[in-house]
Amino acid sequence: MRLTRRYHFAASHRLNTDALTPAENAALYGKCNNPFGHGHDYVLDVSVEGPMDASGQIVGREALDALVQQQVLDRVDHRNLNCDLPELRDRVATTENLASVIEDLLTRQWSLPARLARVRISETARNTFELETK
Ligand code: NI
Repeated sequence: MRLTRRYHFAASHRLNTDALTPAENAALYGKCNNPFGHGHDYVLDVSVEGPMDASGQIVGREALDALVQQQVLDRVDHRNLNCDLPELRDRVATTENLASVIEDLLTRQWSLPARLARVRISETARNTFELETK
């Protein structure tokens, strides 16, 4: 059985790597390389998987919500992902990398009976990234 909970956060970012010149960054990332960044209203779906317990639930919603709030939302909501998220400082602030960081942040403190099955982030109505955990 799988449960998916949906969360929302707003954050800004800029796609840029020090490994490339400014011109190369601009060519590679286009307007996402604009010097002062831009924002998104991200939608985060966290999926957990496991058997139902005696209460007929996979996991307590409140326990999952508290974990996501503490480990993820408190770190990213209304933040600049390049500056405010140390885990992204050495990586390009793409949503692919953000999904990976969010998986790490959640598993680091995971204490729920169900396993983390998937992290899914919608950056815009057209871009959705899914990370299936092993
Ligand atoms: Ni963007």
